[in-house]
Amino acid sequence: MALLISLRQLNQRFILSMSIMFLLLMSLPSLASQTIYESKCISCHGVYGEGNEALKSPSIAGLSERYIARQLNHFKNGIRGNHEQDTSGRMMAAIAVPLTDAQIVSVSQYLAQLPFQAVPPGEKSAGFIGAGLFRQCQSCHGAKGQGEESLFAPRIAGQHLWYLTKQIENFKSGIRGMHDEDKLGRQMVDIAKPLDNEHIELILIHLSKLKPSGVSHESHH
Ligand code: HEC
Ligand code: HEC
Repeated sequence: MALLISLRQLNQRFILSMSIMFLLLMSLPSLASQTIYESKCISCHGVYGEGNEALKSPSIAGLSERYIARQLNHFKNGIRGNHEQDTSGRMMAAIAVPLTDAQIVSVSQYLAQLPFQAVPPGEKSAGFIGAGLFRQCQSCHGAKGQGEESLFAPRIAGQHLWYLTKQIENFKSGIRGMHDEDKLGRQMVDIAKPLDNEHIELILIHLSKLKPSGVSHESHH
């Protein structure tokens, strides 16, 4: 009898320790990706992935996994952030070059599941002109600027205004999106080129007022 009980206890312990080991193994990938983020990204993109204006680093938490992975591969392979005038792009490229394919997959998954850190809406209003001008962006970026993963079009609502303005300028001047292998970037170049600065400002102000679902306006900075 005593032997039977101790055997059963042993069995339960075994099952318990196997379960703990299983749980540990299950959480390993996310731990590893969190470690990548904390050791290689946090210094510029912030604790919550909210971005940092002084370092020209955008808000990246909660962007789509496909978009993040594509951009990291582009930075790594000189498709983005390779232009001599692209100081901040080159800064990011220097970080992406040593990343392995597995690290890119892992950190993209990690970032995509973090809550998006949205910038609070600005004071200015763009009125119906801004809304009208934004229509030409909706087919790819979504009615509320929430992004469309299948098109690799990123969420642009809730992103820092200085970053969006800079990216449109980069597309217009051919600093971003002109590489042979960047067809989707070139599409954005064609869209950005005819826009004058006043219209861009109105579009971006309108965008900053949109509240796509899943975007919280409680930002941490
Ligand atoms: C030295 C500062 C710095 C570090 C460290 C850094 N980044 Fe960046 N990152 C930037 C800057 C600056 C940009 C904006 C580049 C531009 O203007 O095109 C950027 C852009 C990005 C973008 C593009 C976002 C978009 O909307 O297109 C992604 C994705 C990104 N970083 C991910 C990461 C990840 C993941 C890490 C860690 C492996 C990391 N960054 C580490 C500075 C940094
Ligand atoms: C035909 C589809 C399409 C349309 C229309 C479009 N975009 Fe884009 N946009 C994209 C794609 C795809 C990307 C990602 C490009 C890349 O991979 O570098 C992008 C990227 C961007 C970025 C860079 C965001 C970041 O996080 O770095 C901005 C800003 C932007 N678009 C603004 C606009 C605005 C403003 C309009 C309307 C005037 C617009 N887009 C219309 C497809 C589109």
